[in-house]
Amino acid sequence: MGHVQITPSILNADFAALGAEVARIPSADWIHVDVMDNHFVPNLTFGPTMVEALARSTDIPLDAHLMIADADRHAPTYVEAGCASVTFHVEAAAAPVRLAREIRAAGGRASMALKPATPVEPYEDLLPELDMLLLMTVEPGFGGQKFLDLVLPKIRRARALMDKHGVETWLQVDGGVSLETIERCAEAGADTFVAGSAVFSADDPDAMVTALRAKADAARA
Ligand code: DX5
Ligand code: ZN
Repeated sequence: MGHVQITPSILNADFAALGAEVARIPSADWIHVDVMDNHFVPNLTFGPTMVEALARSTDIPLDAHLMIADADRHAPTYVEAGCASVTFHVEAAAAPVRLAREIRAAGGRASMALKPATPVEPYEDLLPELDMLLLMTVEPGFGGQKFLDLVLPKIRRARALMDKHGVETWLQVDGGVSLETIERCAEAGADTFVAGSAVFSADDPDAMVTALRAKADAARA
């Protein structure tokens, strides 16, 4: 299992001042960028031009989470835009193995996301192709939703599959992660944690990043 990494999502940040918002969280391991197309999810955010500008504005690596249809066609664009990690949804990919290989060939970390109702077992044999597996702990589309405890058993099963295959794949959770829920995720086997509203609604976002990391570390010890 990888070391604990905290990945603030900018979905609940001030979109008119993203450079300044990212500068408020220097302790973040990654910046999570939620790309939405109003088709795969009922919400619209930004595309590769905006992401490229954000990548130029910070030294913290970008973790793109693509909630878009036709991921096969668009995902490699986000590596070219400067994202060190690109996550596509398996529900939106026609050829996930080919796509993961394309992301890696372009120089990115390849990651695949599962919505809460998508089982992990069918993808066991894909784990060696992935640098990260994202298990959504809310239905994708919006920040500030309630954490879905029903995903916890799937986190445990995913961790067991990773141990069985001896892969280095990181296990990320996204949705409703806060000081109240992060320990459950860490105990179940997650090692990378996306937090949007918990970080950007805090008075001191960087202190929240540090507090979340401490809780996750303690839960795993
Ligand atoms: C939801 C996004 C999340 C979102 C998390 O579709 O994928 O990354 O920003 O926000 P919180 O942490 O508020 O649930
Ligand atoms: Zn996300």
